[in-house]
Amino acid sequence: MLRQFLFLSLLLHVAYGQISIKNFVPFGTNHGDAMMARPIDAVTGPIHISIRFPFFDKWYDEIKLYSHGLILFGNITYVLPHSPPGPFPLRNFVCAAPYWADTNIAQDASSNIFYRQVTDEDTLIEISSMVRNGFPLLSAHRMLWAFVATWYRVPGHMTDPGRNTYQAIITTNGLYSFTLFTYNQLQWSAGLWGGFPQIGFNAGDQVNYFTLEKSFTANVITVVQDSNIGVPGQFIFHTTGNISDVQCNSTEGLQSSPFRGSMYGGYELRLFGICFNESSYIVEINGQELENCELTTVYLTCTMPMVSEGRLQIRLFTSERRLIGQTDFLAFMPENNADLILSNNGELDTSAHIREDQRLNLLFQKNALTTNYLFRIIIYDYSIQQFIANGTFYNQTMQQIDLGLGALNLSAIRNLTINYESIFPIDSEPRDRVHSLGISFELVPQSATSKSFTWKGATKFLVRPFIVPDVLFSSYCPAWLELQSDTNTQNLINKVPACPCRVSTTWDEEQLGFNTDPACNARKSGLWNCRFHRGAKGCYRRKSLTSDAGAQCCYDNNGVWINDWRSGAGTIDAYYPETLKNLSTYQHFFSDVLSYFSCCGGVTEFTSNCEKYMKHRPPGRCENLLPAPTGGQGDPHFLTLAGSSYTFNGHGEYTLLESLDGQLEIQVRLARVVNESAPPSSVSSMDNATAIVAFVIHSEDQPRVQFELFSQLQLVEIRIDERVLEFTPFSEEDELLSSSLIYSDDYQLIIRQRDAKTYSISYGESGIQFIVYLRPQFDFLDLVSLIPRINTDKRQFQGILGGFDGLAYANGTRVPITSNDDQALFNYGESWRTTSNASLFYYRFQDSHAQHQDLTYRPTFLRDLFDKYTNTSRYRLAEEVCQNLTQRQQCMYDVLITNDPTVNQMHQHYETTLQAWDEYIELVEQDEENDKTTTTKSPKNAASKYSVNKIWATIILLAMIIAHK
Ligand SMILES: *[C@@H]1O[C@H](CO)[C@@H](O)[C@H](O)[C@H]1NC(C)=O
Ligand SMILES: *[C@@H]1O[C@H](CO)[C@@H](O)[C@H](O)[C@H]1NC(C)=O
Ligand SMILES: *[C@@H]1O[C@H](CO)[C@@H](O)[C@H](O)[C@H]1NC(C)=O
Ligand SMILES: *[C@@H]1O[C@H](CO)[C@@H](O)[C@H](O)[C@H]1NC(C)=O
Repeated sequence: MLRQFLFLSLLLHVAYGQISIKNFVPFGTNHGDAMMARPIDAVTGPIHISIRFPFFDKWYDEIKLYSHGLILFGNITYVLPHSPPGPFPLRNFVCAAPYWADTNIAQDASSNIFYRQVTDEDTLIEISSMVRNGFPLLSAHRMLWAFVATWYRVPGHMTDPGRNTYQAIITTNGLYSFTLFTYNQLQWSAGLWGGFPQIGFNAGDQVNYFTLEKSFTANVITVVQDSNIGVPGQFIFHTTGNISDVQCNSTEGLQSSPFRGSMYGGYELRLFGICFNESSYIVEINGQELENCELTTVYLTCTMPMVSEGRLQIRLFTSERRLIGQTDFLAFMPENNADLILSNNGELDTSAHIREDQRLNLLFQKNALTTNYLFRIIIYDYSIQQFIANGTFYNQTMQQIDLGLGALNLSAIRNLTINYESIFPIDSEPRDRVHSLGISFELVPQSATSKSFTWKGATKFLVRPFIVPDVLFSSYCPAWLELQSDTNTQNLINKVPACPCRVSTTWDEEQLGFNTDPACNARKSGLWNCRFHRGAKGCYRRKSLTSDAGAQCCYDNNGVWINDWRSGAGTIDAYYPETLKNLSTYQHFFSDVLSYFSCCGGVTEFTSNCEKYMKHRPPGRCENLLPAPTGGQGDPHFLTLAGSSYTFNGHGEYTLLESLDGQLEIQVRLARVVNESAPPSSVSSMDNATAIVAFVIHSEDQPRVQFELFSQLQLVEIRIDERVLEFTPFSEEDELLSSSLIYSDDYQLIIRQRDAKTYSISYGESGIQFIVYLRPQFDFLDLVSLIPRINTDKRQFQGILGGFDGLAYANGTRVPITSNDDQALFNYGESWRTTSNASLFYYRFQDSHAQHQDLTYRPTFLRDLFDKYTNTSRYRLAEEVCQNLTQRQQCMYDVLITNDPTVNQMHQHYETTLQAWDEYIELVEQDEENDKTTTTKSPKNAASKYSVNKIWATIILLAMIIAHK
């Protein structure tokens, strides 16, 4: 009776040739499935698969399907036995065995074995999300290919009326492979073979194999209720490499994904890396217990709560509070990006508003974003008090408030008043409490199902005002001035990094390790931009390496440093804002912002107090920073530190540059270019080309930064030490979004995505910066390094890029720069091949230093290549597309060897980048000349400018005072 019911309910799912079963990938002839032949012991012919499939350290491009519940890998000549040869391991028999049993579909026409290769995007996304349930980190990249086999209502080789329905999937994202078994209904186990089925897999090497415990028992049919990922009937195994990684690790290695995120919380936090064998756990983040965590056997998910900024510790306990593991989490205050939402964003953000004014007015933009989308407003309220006399903070609180306004059409309401009373009780608050608000505008999903709803990658827009009691506002300046002393100020000045006397007027988001100051950004305009630095075109900041202080450097239209605050100069910060240090936002606010507002912005005798403020927060000093641009591009051509250029295209991993003091080292991986569009077996002309495909940077005590291109996957993977950096990739439409910061570690290491194909990596105090450009095809990568020339006598370099005085082997033997001897230069490059012990690269499973070394590769030298193609159409094409370039021969070499004229665009991009730096360097050199000839250094800004700016400043201050009344 029960069986009939099951049978019926299964039939109900059957539409003609199209069957849907819970947790199965859709299958049936309507989905393009083939059906297996009916004779018993049927095996398909070799199925040539469209990807190289990794399975336990070997690659396969051919599989077969066996009716008795097996997927076979490779060209197995083994005569398949009628009765199975026993438990795994089995030598030279490579298979995944969802249900190796005596199956016979000959006797029942309604039973079928379906199979197909899956390459359509929707199904791959579905499979990817299944895999993600089991292996969230390994499956960050979507599956590229899968093979799905479905045993549908298959009978055994007996008169038993039972039917079995299960599905097996093998899938890979190009890096990792996974095997999924999903059981819907198992009604029989024994066949005529005698004995019971086996479930598992076997790599054929006697080492890597796995047999599910219930195999070889009648009880095996109960696996429909079991799971290794918390989904009844489903098992997922990671089958790329080592058998010990097939399931989870129970001893150590707790990790979180993401490992850094907004202090406002609200996103999913996954803990993984160890087995979760207990039935329940306690998760704490800096002592705060998380609620609503959900557990599967391989990961635990929680919702990130609101936390304070800084380096926090996640700790995992059993329900008896035994500590199991811990890992760090970096919580940061997200960047302000409400420009697109608010027209008065600049007035509100990071500035002091008086509590007694009782309210904030938000004025909304009318644009595509605010017109076409609805927003929910959430307020994150952090508050604190400070003992001004000794700077100690106390009574810190945090709370999240939904004003209950629902989904708002901001362009329709135009403006909104937020009363402080709706956030905290104004009257009963302690007299000195300061609130740091994060007013967040969150996109409301159009339907409940679209979970990760974004607008060009953004889900939230944020403005961050401070609310200060009037009494604190008016009394703070004298109290603050009391605490300042000339000695302290001098100490502060000494600690703050010197500003570059000039910046490039490309106004990039970072220059020489300095970052754009969001409150005075040369790329922005508007009344509120640079309102505290009238006269400046843009400002940059940099944190000190040795203290909490930071420089603020402001520049005029020509990129020249301003040294007088009346003309818009910057003011040094005793506390650099928004670092990953606990309370850094408040530290900065009290020591550098509130003091400014209180001394310069709110009291009648602002002139004298403001001058005193400026005396203790001077602009700092400037020095001429001369960067040396070097790098590698194309089929790689290197520009050396000494300014010459040569081609080196070995295949392997090499030291690109290392400082003799051991503080900086960059290694690159050069490899054959993989041509995606060429059929696998054909020899394409690309095969002769060499590209920079990966690099890793180690700088002082900062984490290592690794970039790795996977052209077949069309992706670049960025790692910070061994951890994959998760970020929303930039799309072409994202230019409107102001934020491109994808990593910052206490502002000494900053990674930004400048546009869809350009990244920058900058190292604060050292001023070292890298610009990375990816070809849209994800096959070539350009790397420009900017190494400051200061202290060159102290800092010596070697490697492929040589030193400031030219190329030299590690033993000191010099290579003549004028050498035209390609072979000698090739030998020179080869001498910088790294050893496996010295490698800085992080290697995934199956990957190793050895894997990337091709010692047999002999390059085609320029002259030979030119000789080969002279007078051909390819040569003429190369000449034509490269004609306007300075390094024309290099460009032609690349076009000839790849037969791809579009590589000239990389050369153009590279030359433009270098040109901008060369122009900048020229200007700095001129400045240096001028400084030498002028004995007394005159202020950079004339007096006439001073008076104009003073009037401006007065108008602004008056406007502010009026606004406060
Ligand atoms: C597969 O094995 C058969 C039998 O040994 C052989 O004839 C055939 O060439 C092999 N195919 C491939 C692609 O190696
Ligand atoms: C678990 O991970 C640790 C650290 O990565 C490793 O040393 C250990 O061998 C792993 N254990 C198993 C059973 O895989
Ligand atoms: C700072 O001052 C307050 C009040 O005078 C006092 O209670 C507190 O202990 C002091 N903290 C430190 C670190 O000196
Ligand atoms: C600390 O905060 C509480 C709660 O707001 C308040 O009652 C108390 O007065 C505060 N302490 C001081 C010293 O202001």
